[in-house]
Amino acid sequence: MIYFGGDYNPEQWPADVVEEDVALMRRAGVNIATVGVFSWSDLEPEPGRYEFGWLDRVLGRLHDAGIGVALATPTASPPPWFTLAHPGAMPVTADGVRLTHGSRDTYCVSAPAYRAAARNIVAELAERYAHHPALTMWHVHNEYGTDCRCDVTAAAFRSWLEKKHGDLDVLNEVWTTSFWSQRYSDWAQIMPPRATQYLPNPAHVLDFRRFLSDELLGGFIEQRDLLRAANPDVPITTNFVQGGWVSVDHARWAGEVDIVAVDHYPAATGAGADAETAFGGDLARGWGRGSWLLMETAPNLIYTPGRMHAKEPGQLTRNSLDYVARGSRGAMYFQWRQPRGGAELFHSALVPHAGPDSPVFREAVGLGRTLKALAPRLPEEPPAARVAVAWDAPSWWALQGGGLPSAEIDYLTAVQQAHRVLHRSGLAVDFVFPGMDDLRERLTAYDMVVLPHLFLVSDEAAAALRDFVASGGHLVVDHLSGIADPAGRIRLGGYPGAFRDVLGLRVVEWRPLAGGTPIALDNGDRGIRWSERVETAGAETLVRYAGDVLAGAPAITRNRHGAGTAWYVSPGLDDDALGRILDRVAAEAGVTPVLPGLPPHLTAVRRGDLLFLFNHGDVPGTVALPGSDPVTVQPGGFQCVESGRV
Ligand code: GLA
Repeated sequence: MIYFGGDYNPEQWPADVVEEDVALMRRAGVNIATVGVFSWSDLEPEPGRYEFGWLDRVLGRLHDAGIGVALATPTASPPPWFTLAHPGAMPVTADGVRLTHGSRDTYCVSAPAYRAAARNIVAELAERYAHHPALTMWHVHNEYGTDCRCDVTAAAFRSWLEKKHGDLDVLNEVWTTSFWSQRYSDWAQIMPPRATQYLPNPAHVLDFRRFLSDELLGGFIEQRDLLRAANPDVPITTNFVQGGWVSVDHARWAGEVDIVAVDHYPAATGAGADAETAFGGDLARGWGRGSWLLMETAPNLIYTPGRMHAKEPGQLTRNSLDYVARGSRGAMYFQWRQPRGGAELFHSALVPHAGPDSPVFREAVGLGRTLKALAPRLPEEPPAARVAVAWDAPSWWALQGGGLPSAEIDYLTAVQQAHRVLHRSGLAVDFVFPGMDDLRERLTAYDMVVLPHLFLVSDEAAAALRDFVASGGHLVVDHLSGIADPAGRIRLGGYPGAFRDVLGLRVVEWRPLAGGTPIALDNGDRGIRWSERVETAGAETLVRYAGDVLAGAPAITRNRHGAGTAWYVSPGLDDDALGRILDRVAAEAGVTPVLPGLPPHLTAVRRGDLLFLFNHGDVPGTVALPGSDPVTVQPGGFQCVESGRV
């Protein structure tokens, strides 16, 4: 079965609408509904007084209709009575402002009162529904990520630090607290990062982000274990959020859920927008070790700055199939029915304000049919890739700080660019996670690995990446990779300290470029955003800087190391220039596209025996398949081809 459905909020509607919803879900072929995500105040209107009747009725109706339920714990939004009874459990911002209810995600995960109230409602739900026949999976909380800097958090942070560093002298050393007289003489002096006079200590901020991720994970695990004890056979997940706002290290969290569930809201429009969907799907598959579930995406309009972007006809179907091709076990949406009011009343839904007589609902009905027909043909195995891009949440956090050499440095942009360029060349792309213990083992699956802005790297990860090259791999390192240790301290002796030997060079000076002022390269391309002085020590120079004081200095290099090759890309490049380099690396690594020779508006994903072809353009695309008739994919459409015909 391919899961098809989404967030369903019957608590917002009268009984007759719920009846209509069930009938419409059946019409669309919906087989799962995520229920109860923000329903705490409806489930427990007063402390200790529960109203489960409405949920009993909804679960019963859905079950009778053959629709499973991802039952949520409602802990992302405590009710107003909770806030007033426990003001100390409300989060405090870095500026010292204590927030109050009126929106959502307003809680401090470290606050004992919040944790107790959360355990309580979860235990009630577990007792009542753990064996309900409609229960397909538990959906714990919603998009963990709330940040708090209160005194309770401060105490929890200190315990976490004591456990991590053991000794205050060690913390002082790795945080470089001698800089600006920050040396701590007692653990009690350490606060969460709060508003302060000027730049904070980056090591302090980095450890706080790691702490927060672990602290939130503790909140998840507590709920998971309660639910698991009630019925060990029901899978438990929580929806990870992917995008510019990330408070947790999903690669670490992935080991704690039964299935990785991801919310992905691509916002790109126009030619090439499909790269964002591909990025989301490929990264989620990396977290999920091959298998994951698209828990939320938008059926149509999403909240984007400036104005909302409508999807093109067919785009909902095409993007959904793209996620499934990339390993998702389903296609689920936020949300089933568009609300009459509330903060997100204009966010799209499968049943919009216009009702079922609408383009989006008609497309949903067709999509339901398509997924049902596809389900028996869909192979278990995920797409296989020989190229991987590295993803590292702590490097992202480190590069979000102040005091960096250029305001144009953006981790997410760099990783997305590397992925996009490989994707446009038709290559299947996976992700690897240098912060995880299984890095060495995971690298064995690849011929080519790209490290965009892998700013922080441990000795163990650097050794695994070096050995990957020594045993025949092709490693591409860019500026800002391998610069610091996991605490954010610079690896001395010339950048990039972690990879100087494998690259056969050292970088002795950074020369960030002013926005809009490129630097010429001797192959006709231009460096943008970034330049630096590279001195080779064994590496072969492929491209040189041709302008500024760097004229003649190496810009792109290649170094044989053992049986493999390490490539260095010193300047920032646009997609075309980076594409030329990565294509060359791929060619030397013997990595080939999923389907060579595709026109640019067509993409191909192979999942086991099935080849998915997507047309993201506005003209038909014809694909010549060896040994069979050519296949034409209509504009905005897709085709699935059994590989027996290929
Ligand atoms: C998130 C949340 C949903 C909703 C959507 C809107 O993913 O989980 O509750 O707010 O965003 O885009």
